[in-house]
Amino acid sequence: MSALSTNGQISDVTRVSAENEVVSATELAMKDVRQSSINLKQYTLKEVSEHCWRNDCWIILFDRVYDVTKFISDHPGGEYIIEENAGRDATLQFRGSRHGKEAFDMLEQLCIGILVEDERLYTPRDIDLYSTP
Ligand code: HEM
Repeated sequence: MSALSTNGQISDVTRVSAENEVVSATELAMKDVRQSSINLKQYTLKEVSEHCWRNDCWIILFDRVYDVTKFISDHPGGEYIIEENAGRDATLQFRGSRHGKEAFDMLEQLCIGILVEDERLYTPRDIDLYSTP
């Protein structure tokens, strides 16, 4: 999937990869998920849903689980918008907002795990989580 649509317009937040290739932020996030899902603790959607409080707030983005409890009050897009998604998958809302490199860089620090394989939507099933790279 290219970041540029057929009429040449940018269809997603774009970023230049280390290989100097222009790719969409979504593509990059998914690539990161594939590369770094090994050794992440796995959670079910039900487990994540229990952390749906202002003082205990997890969200799911691109199959990964983020503890955003301490981050909520610093979120440049506002607290409420994250609270609304507490305990849930917020990937579509995250993609629908203007998130650039800064946001994607922050994600790394907040990640605490990944969904169990059967409940993932974005990570291909052919990953062997237990093989050594
Ligand atoms: C851990 C998760 C998140 C992080 C690290 C994050 C980070 C950021 C950052 C850094 C910005 C400033 C713009 C930029 O530099 O990218 C931003 C803006 C924003 N975020 Fe988030 N965000 C997160 C989750 C979400 C979620 C789940 C939503 C929606 C439900 C959301 C909605 C917004 C909105 C609406 C803005 C303002 C965009 C604009 O200026 O037009 N964010 N976020």
